[in-house]
Amino acid sequence: MDERGSVPALVASLSVEHKAALCLGSDFWHTAPIESAGIESIMVSDGPHGLRKQPGRADHAGLSGSVPATCFPTASALGSSWDPELVRAVGAAIGLEARAQDVAVVLGPGINIKRSPLCGRNFEYLSEDPHLSGRLAAAMVEGLQSQQVGASLKHFAANNQETDRVRISADVDERTLREIYLPAFEYVVTTARPWTVMCSYNKINGEYASQHRWLLTDLLRGEWGFDGVVVSDWGAVHDRVAALAAGLDLEMPPDLGVSDRAIISAVVAGRLDEALLDQAAARVLHLVQRSRRREPATVDAGTQHALARRAAGDSMVLLKNAGGVLPLQDGPGLSVAVIGEFARTPRFQGAGSSQVSPTRVDIPLEELTAALPAAAVRYAPGFSISGAADPGLAAAAVSCAAGADVIIAFLGLPPAEESEGFDRTHIDLPAAQTDLLARLATAYPDTPIVVVLFNGSAVRTSTWDHAAAAVIECWLAGQATGSALADVLTGAVNPSGRLTETIPVRLQDTPSYLNFPGEQGHVRYGEGVFVGYRGFDAADLPVAYPFGHGLSYSTFRYSALNVTHGGSLDGGDLTVTVSCSVTNAGERPGREVAQLYVGDPDASVARPPRELKRFHKLNLAGGETKQVTFTLNARDLSYWSPARREWTVEPGLFELAVGASSRDLRLTHTITVSGTPPRPLLTGMSTLEEWLDDPSGGPALRHEIGTDPDGQPAGILGNDELIKIIGNFTLHTLAAFPGLGITHEVLAKLITPASAVAPGGS
Ligand code: BGC
Repeated sequence: MDERGSVPALVASLSVEHKAALCLGSDFWHTAPIESAGIESIMVSDGPHGLRKQPGRADHAGLSGSVPATCFPTASALGSSWDPELVRAVGAAIGLEARAQDVAVVLGPGINIKRSPLCGRNFEYLSEDPHLSGRLAAAMVEGLQSQQVGASLKHFAANNQETDRVRISADVDERTLREIYLPAFEYVVTTARPWTVMCSYNKINGEYASQHRWLLTDLLRGEWGFDGVVVSDWGAVHDRVAALAAGLDLEMPPDLGVSDRAIISAVVAGRLDEALLDQAAARVLHLVQRSRRREPATVDAGTQHALARRAAGDSMVLLKNAGGVLPLQDGPGLSVAVIGEFARTPRFQGAGSSQVSPTRVDIPLEELTAALPAAAVRYAPGFSISGAADPGLAAAAVSCAAGADVIIAFLGLPPAEESEGFDRTHIDLPAAQTDLLARLATAYPDTPIVVVLFNGSAVRTSTWDHAAAAVIECWLAGQATGSALADVLTGAVNPSGRLTETIPVRLQDTPSYLNFPGEQGHVRYGEGVFVGYRGFDAADLPVAYPFGHGLSYSTFRYSALNVTHGGSLDGGDLTVTVSCSVTNAGERPGREVAQLYVGDPDASVARPPRELKRFHKLNLAGGETKQVTFTLNARDLSYWSPARREWTVEPGLFELAVGASSRDLRLTHTITVSGTPPRPLLTGMSTLEEWLDDPSGGPALRHEIGTDPDGQPAGILGNDELIKIIGNFTLHTLAAFPGLGITHEVLAKLITPASAVAPGGS
């Protein structure tokens, strides 16, 4: 029998009590079993960069243990691969471990937009860009679900900070939601069909996400067609009945004895339509049923680790490589000084609900020493991870580096400075580390220094990177960080990671700076759509390293841009095809991420100068050339019009740019898109100017006002100067002004249903 088909009959046979029970878990990680009806319980576990199955005491912070699992790169690292295929493989590998552990749903991926580098949970998120986040997260969901394990897309929505995260109201306008904070969710829901979506803790414009009907029902199910389960973030439910009515199916963990009673009495009292309870129970049942298809699996820890190593290597971002100091050339003459506690105590994941117990951890110092068998590698910790200054450690590190051919300094954020649960207050590395770097640079001005960074979200580089010949951003790259880093440092892996977030020169430059993290229960998303590079570019601000940036040991050339367009805007089938050639001008194999940005310079609304719309990671042998082709549609050229409440394209010029980063655009082309300009719905509250400018509204208004006895335009129509001065008054207001010819009768004629001028209508 079709599984979904059997669900309604089962629901019909259940009591209100049983249905209420299904809409709550039975404990921290399980749904409720209903033995009398043969309904099993299923287990859910965190994600997103590895499985955190807690067999024993459940907690919220990864403090009590979880079964060993492969710790893959966290999202900030994995996202930097810009490689959906790799992300899909990691998703499948996490799904395999979930299958083997009898876990039905993995609580991830997390795809909230990095609104500020201060957000403590940025390491769990993919990017400041919605297009990139959506494409990568869809691959993660597909990978997970290929193992018959469900994903839980989180945290829906506008959960972009940890400060006051369970109460704060994200005050954000609809255009910004639609263009920045929702598209990644939309893309994943509509293409990868996650089994569950997790609502966030916060409020959106004053309403808790857990009881936000527009979000959970009108948009998610109505517009996007989501047919899975909406689960609460852990503890996000405040009013179980309101949440259920808004579309929240499963409360986790269950507020047993409270939420179930509230649902039952609301149904009995007629305050909650039982059909809504049936619907939620049916969705949970379907989830239980579909997870029964899961087959047992065995996991080879070595194979999983090898994937974690590949993923980490492909995610590291070579920010700088002056004089080609990297890769290191092994040889008997090579003397390497490794400095920094992180070299033997790597930071490879973040703290909180995503923290997994790794199956093993590769230590960078050991791996690098093994990868340079002929070289002499020495080591000094230089500082303690806590960040506190230690003059003895620093002095020993300076001595250790004497006579080295190259110094590799392992720097990063202390774990206590960055975690789920709180935000940072600054983006600087600890002074003990940057002071040590400065001392090394002063003591050995002729010795190149390679800085290796471990941090979950952007750190300021602008105050110290002049002292470094090379900088590698590892992010928090999982349990294989050490071996993967050795691969990158020695050139066994040609770096191909690219930034998914801008590294600012200063925190103060970041677009959300003045509105983060809010106050008195509200955070105003005052920068609107100008998040990340969209804001830096619009304000024309210098950045330390731009969005999309990342070097390779190869260089890549772009050529032969070709742009064609087909279909038409008015016909609804516009396509713009952009292709170009990319050549690996180096000798070693390398990987380049070709990025396509689109700008709408003539837009009537404020739009970012350019937005990422497509990207493709290419494998290129030395000297090889490949063609890359991108196809855009009308949505890719559009903005969300709050007035029209729809995606809107304004015909005219569009700038297309292909390149290696948002600020390294190699080929550009301008196209003209023709079509009927979008028009506002004209009402009495439209201004005189809006009426006169409208191709249908203008003539209609002129006709109604008519002409004077000399045949000249009557009333205000004959007075251009006055039109200039009061043209921004609404017709409704002007109808009360004498002598303009805009009377209430005129208005009534213009806006009767028959003569109303509809958008795009006549
Ligand atoms: C986090 C979620 C997590 C859940 C279960 C919450 O505090 O926000 O991301 O999945 O706990 O651990």
